Amino acid sequence: MGNEGNLAVTLDSGRELIDEGLFGGTGIAGSLQYERPAYIYGHRLKDCTAGAFTYFNAAGQTSAYRVHFGRYSQIGEGSVLGPPEHPMDWFSSHPFAFTRPKYMPNIYQLEDFARLGPDEKAGPSYVDTVPHETFIGHEAYIGAGSFVKRGVRIGDGAVVGACSVVTKDVPPYAIVAGSPARIVRMRFSESIVERLLKLQWWRYDLAPFKNAVDFQQVEATLAFFEEQLACGALQPLQPPAYRVVRRQGMLIAERLSRPLHFAAAAKV
Ligand SMILES: CC(C)(COP(=O)(O)OP(=O)(O)OC[C@H]1O[C@@H](n2cnc3c(N)ncnc32)[C@H](O)[C@@H]1OP(=O)(O)O)[C@@H](O)C(=O)NCCC(=O)NCCS
Repeated sequence: MGNEGNLAVTLDSGRELIDEGLFGGTGIAGSLQYERPAYIYGHRLKDCTAGAFTYFNAAGQTSAYRVHFGRYSQIGEGSVLGPPEHPMDWFSSHPFAFTRPKYMPNIYQLEDFARLGPDEKAGPSYVDTVPHETFIGHEAYIGAGSFVKRGVRIGDGAVVGACSVVTKDVPPYAIVAGSPARIVRMRFSESIVERLLKLQWWRYDLAPFKNAVDFQQVEATLAFFEEQLACGALQPLQPPAYRVVRRQGMLIAERLSRPLHFAAAAKV
């Protein structure tokens, strides 16, 4: 586990932050805040947050923009999550008209773009005036090749079928598929979903109980953890959290003072 207090680690961009519980940080753009462990496998994450045990499948580039991944989220390859929208009712929908150099520094290195684009002192960028955060719930599972529109909330435990186009919020534990994505069915009965959402098992450290349950058995496992919670045996999962930024080809990691989710209340 990481050290207490703030920690600054400077590494070559090609190296992994394994000691800090991160695998595959080479695709980080802007910044990433994460709880350990996070397995992001080189996919492109721009200004995202990732809860503990976030898992990206390998072999294909997923791009995520300002997406908040819950704990145990599972992301298929080749997906595009929360990309920016262009204003379609402006004189031009092209970035020169609505973005700002700080958001697209690369493009404004090109002199001709800089000549046409806004000055730094121009007002707020379009992206600052519309919802731009996208949320993937705890234990949500996004199938390969999916598109999730910016601003959408995928509920806890929900599933997005492969190659789906998600344009609206998805309720917890729903399975959606298609373009546009529609509910195919629920993962479990209403009463089981209700109990799962009440338990919120992702808040706790399940590791001590891994040999005491059979994860194939939904109701028995749920009842077991409900009992453990009732008798105070479940301990909160309070993983170390970090903020990683890319600067001049290096990844700089800094330890945060609290987990991203369910931080324990400070003792007074
Ligand atoms: C959505 C999914 C989870 C549903 O699996 P399932 O419960 O076994 O569902 P079924 O195959 O019984 O299909 C149920 C219905 O949804 C449709 N459906 C399933 N997946 C679909 C998809 N991705 N897009 C559109 N429709 C889909 C089926 O055609 C079927 O329609 P019907 O009732 O009209 O015949 C699965 O099909 C899927 O897409 N998995 C993603 C796999 C993946 O991307 N893995 C990456 C791992 S990181």
